[in-house]
Amino acid sequence: MSGRYELIHGVPVAAEIQRDWPQIENFQARPDDILISTYPKSGTTWMQEIVDQIMNNADEVICRRGPLFVRVPFIELMGVMKPSMEEVNARPSPRAIKTHLPIQLVPSSFWEHNCKVIYVARNARDTITSYFHFDHMAVIHPDPGTFEEYIERFMVGNVAWGSWYDHVKGYWDEKSKPILYVFYEDLKKDLLGEVRKVAKFLEKDLAEDVLKKIAHSSSFEQMKNNPMANNADFPAYVLDPTLGRFMRKGTVGDWKTHFTPEQSKRFEENYHEQMSGSTLKFPTLN
Ligand code: A3P
Repeated sequence: MSGRYELIHGVPVAAEIQRDWPQIENFQARPDDILISTYPKSGTTWMQEIVDQIMNNADEVICRRGPLFVRVPFIELMGVMKPSMEEVNARPSPRAIKTHLPIQLVPSSFWEHNCKVIYVARNARDTITSYFHFDHMAVIHPDPGTFEEYIERFMVGNVAWGSWYDHVKGYWDEKSKPILYVFYEDLKKDLLGEVRKVAKFLEKDLAEDVLKKIAHSSSFEQMKNNPMANNADFPAYVLDPTLGRFMRKGTVGDWKTHFTPEQSKRFEENYHEQMSGSTLKFPTLN
């Protein structure tokens, strides 16, 4: 069984999200909410774990109180799975919340309250590669087809949450809001340094040993083996665990095992067109 897309202001999303849009759009943020925003497959889950650990001083019991999708709920899916919007509304502050919405669709209450936003971006070719595998598991998304077809769809933004190019540029270009822009590749290169940067942005003054503990517990191997961090328990009507693994490889450059030289060339040419004029540069070859 596979899902279908509907449009919200021109952006394709799973039909369930479009159905729930009035409720999502009216989400009531609070001033101390922390919004983790990403294009899908860019390191969202990774940042959810880092932020929950930072907010809870890396307390092992508190940080294992539930799976990540419960600890850091996903606004768009609050009508589809637990925790519901009512439950999230009843939670004490401060809350961390996840979204994949492009900047123009973020519920306005986040901006009215000047909420802190952590945006994670990952180079386009690793993002497609990860998304292609993920879309085999994502029951609420259409079937991904062949990798060749998927690249074409990605380049025109005909995948869930729309154009990667518009998404990453949209948050990058917004300089008047408190947005910390983090790259997946930098998390891979210097996890402790990036954890320190995120803690500073959240105004959490943590001791060095706590920061080190967070970097350790948010490594790929640790998260993969932590049932509270590996998304293995995601409801099967959203993500079918028999069709893939959420914690797949967690590397930079896996695209090289997927793209043919022709696909790579065509993608690169299109990339330069779509990103021309932007000051956004990724730490690795895009
Ligand atoms: P791969 O499919 O390339 O392995 P998101 O959470 O935004 O959906 O992103 C999922 C991607 O991030 C997957 O990439 C997943 O393996 C990777 N990921 C999750 N936790 C990670 C970690 N601690 N370190 C590195 N990569 C991680």
